[in-house]
Amino acid sequence: MALRRILITASSLYFCLAVDKNNFKTCDQSSFCRRLRNVKPDNSKYELDLSSLQVTDDSIEAKLVNTEVGAQFKFSLTAINGNIFRVQVDEVNPLYTRYRPQFALNGEVQLAKLQILDRNKDSVTAQYADNKAVISARPFKIDFFKKDSLVSVVNGRGLFTFEHYRKKPAEGEAEQAPEDPGAWEENFKSHHDSKPKGPSAVGLDVTFPGALRAYGLPEHGDRLPLRTTGPGGVDPYRLYNLDVFEYELDSTMAIYGSVPVVHAHSPKHTVGVFWHNAAETWVDINNSKDGNVMSSLVNLVSGSKSESSVEAHFMSESGVVDLFVLMGPSPRDTVRQYASLTGVAPLPQYFTLAYHQCRWNYNDEDDVTSVVENFDAHDMPVDIMWLDIEYTDGKKYFTWDKIKFPHPDVMIGNLTSTGRKLVVIIDPHIKRESGYFLHEDALANDYYVKTKEGNVYEGWCWPGSSSYLDFYDPRTFDYYKGLYALDKFVGTTNDVNIWNDMNEPSVFNGPEITMPKDCLHYGGWEHRDIHNEYPLAQSTATFQGLLERSPNRRPFILTRGHFAGTQRSAAIWTGDNAAEWSHLAISYPMCLSEALGGISFCGADVGGFFNNPDVELLQRWYQAAIWLPFFRAHAHIDTRRREPYLFNEDVRNRIRAALRLRYAHLPLWYTLFWEHETTGDPVIRPLFYSYPSDENVVDIDSELLVGDSVLAKAISEAGASTASVYLPGGSDEYWYDVEDFKLYRGTGNFNIPVTLDKMVAFYRGGSIIPRKDRPRRASSLMHEDPYTLYVALDSKGSASGRLYVDDRESYGYKNGKYLYLHLRFENGQFSSSPIDKTDYPTKEWVERVVILGAPKGTVGANLSSRSMGTVRLETSYSDDGRALVVRKPGVSIREAFTIKLN
Ligand code: NOJ
Repeated sequence: MALRRILITASSLYFCLAVDKNNFKTCDQSSFCRRLRNVKPDNSKYELDLSSLQVTDDSIEAKLVNTEVGAQFKFSLTAINGNIFRVQVDEVNPLYTRYRPQFALNGEVQLAKLQILDRNKDSVTAQYADNKAVISARPFKIDFFKKDSLVSVVNGRGLFTFEHYRKKPAEGEAEQAPEDPGAWEENFKSHHDSKPKGPSAVGLDVTFPGALRAYGLPEHGDRLPLRTTGPGGVDPYRLYNLDVFEYELDSTMAIYGSVPVVHAHSPKHTVGVFWHNAAETWVDINNSKDGNVMSSLVNLVSGSKSESSVEAHFMSESGVVDLFVLMGPSPRDTVRQYASLTGVAPLPQYFTLAYHQCRWNYNDEDDVTSVVENFDAHDMPVDIMWLDIEYTDGKKYFTWDKIKFPHPDVMIGNLTSTGRKLVVIIDPHIKRESGYFLHEDALANDYYVKTKEGNVYEGWCWPGSSSYLDFYDPRTFDYYKGLYALDKFVGTTNDVNIWNDMNEPSVFNGPEITMPKDCLHYGGWEHRDIHNEYPLAQSTATFQGLLERSPNRRPFILTRGHFAGTQRSAAIWTGDNAAEWSHLAISYPMCLSEALGGISFCGADVGGFFNNPDVELLQRWYQAAIWLPFFRAHAHIDTRRREPYLFNEDVRNRIRAALRLRYAHLPLWYTLFWEHETTGDPVIRPLFYSYPSDENVVDIDSELLVGDSVLAKAISEAGASTASVYLPGGSDEYWYDVEDFKLYRGTGNFNIPVTLDKMVAFYRGGSIIPRKDRPRRASSLMHEDPYTLYVALDSKGSASGRLYVDDRESYGYKNGKYLYLHLRFENGQFSSSPIDKTDYPTKEWVERVVILGAPKGTVGANLSSRSMGTVRLETSYSDDGRALVVRKPGVSIREAFTIKLN
């Protein structure tokens, strides 16, 4: 009863505290955003003192002065391997040390040699490879050139600001120089921010001359191309991890994650910037194509049509200026450059790419078992069952509800005996209940975040009164890792993986549903300094904890809050969406934006978290979601049950078909994740990424590319009878419908007729897609199944692809225990050969080769391999003649082989 009461209190508080956007600040309601947005352009008071210039092999340093108040800063420019510049500014003699993020970068960056080309009293010019930086002293400004074209300008508009720490002015002084009313302390609703260190914001503008669009800055419930914001218009993109109840779409409001990277793109050039700062950040964007008044006036007066450009204005509440300029020149380059700084997602276990079934909540052990049995009974594949907060004993994480989950080990055994896995939720708030071991340990050892007065901070979350672990204290971090050990988290096994939720952190009674900014972390850092990084600190600790638990298993973690670098430890999802068509539609742009921010392993709750989807929406959602990397259905506790087997036969058939298509493509997804780990290339890609010179694709975000071989389109409206799809690449690019293999040439928009059964996806001509087409109940049951290799021929009759294979769960691949194969088709011959000199002892073999776009008239084929010699194979055309099937090659994929068509 008591438990029930707490639950009701917690959820109703949650609902009423977070229902509307008035709970969240606009820029106007945030003192530092107001202050920095008020900086007037073209009037920079910052100058470099070039007499202080110090040049080393790999850095340029000089004093930067705020000429108005005399404050002094240390400026440095370095070059980093891989065509990156880094601009850093910090105070020379700060009153307080300023925070630099600790978890975002993937280790030390590798400096590159800078060559000084010119140096005079006004400027310094430095070169690194074909990149050049011209640093001007008065006012301070940096022009970045790629091969002599100007691609980005830092402080070109003169908005650079660095509020040095200072003593609070005495009353008389304050009257003489009035400041923003919130500069030294600030209220929002009933919350007071004491700001003990006073104003400390940093900001700068970056202009991207020639850019047509900018992308990035996840996470927002918004389209992929960044829109123009500005005073009096749209609020800046806000990066401040927040638990926003029923978040709005088409909005620049902050939600759960913050990745401060922008890619500015034109058909000629792509350049990016990474703003390495973990404090609350707002970013104004101005895209000249949106016709801002100033540039239209200039054009009118001068009669000229000036080149397009995008401007970004970064504003953060504290920290230092640490800007990485990703010099491109292509979208692939800027994304790889960003990955070289913040890391990649390590190859996940294979099952994580299969279908996940979640709900808040599966009620008890029988419920979990029976859901899986029902999937089996209806021949629908599922790999992972999820348990939300109700599995715990009173929201005490690392414990089990003894009534509903008395024998977790038996339940998990039931799952694993049919090849399934379990994920359980672990949030960062800790119930303040005496006798709860974690709370007792945290109190005894001082593991919690503190208030500004130094007491343990108490907030309200699912368990009621809670405190929050301070992952910044190395002792807490270590302790927390240890909690995942099998003898600590009793009842779990190595087949249990982890969901870190509510880690923005969500505090139901805190300012903007999060932790007060004047709370204190280890090292004396204010929460203000580290806020956006807090979830990354948790998922990093969880990752390491799981690794210590089972050193040879790749951890799987899902996190809601995220920051730059999260990809190294966790997958993400787009949080609490709703069962609405618009939310299905936004799932592609939101995940594409994350992928450009380094986080490819992204998905959205299939079916929508809030409310009940009608069956059409649910089916369309499954059909679209099979093309996102993380594929999980989830639903709010108040929704009706909607496991796909609960619907009528037609619906079941459609959802089964979608699930099977996903499972058939698991070898492709797995290969792409391996390639992501080795190259940094995103697993899913917006069209502009692969077709950078095509201006028509810059706004397309209802379509996505899976690697370089599949183009998928989400149908996101009710009653659709056609789907309009843009197929890029010009008439020489061939696209084959994934289901009926109909050929389209990439010449623009196509209206494809669709029924409810139809999924809209295409194979790019020129690619070879490895599939496993035998339907199974779980991915683990497919490991030894044979492959069907789909060869989608290009206009010249050729194609190529790759296939990656290993044991699907361990780190053996780090020691060469894998196969990475180059699949090719040219001159009527298919071939498979190893790319890397590695091996993996697998029994998998090739069952079929299906050639799309093959010329007529083939009768049979000859297979040659070392162990099989030369064998004649049968071929047949599909009834409609669109596919030529080479039957039963029967060759092991470990062997190099060729198949010559006759
Ligand atoms: C919020 C998460 O976003 C949602 O997915 C989850 O079901 C609830 N927390 C309860 O844990």
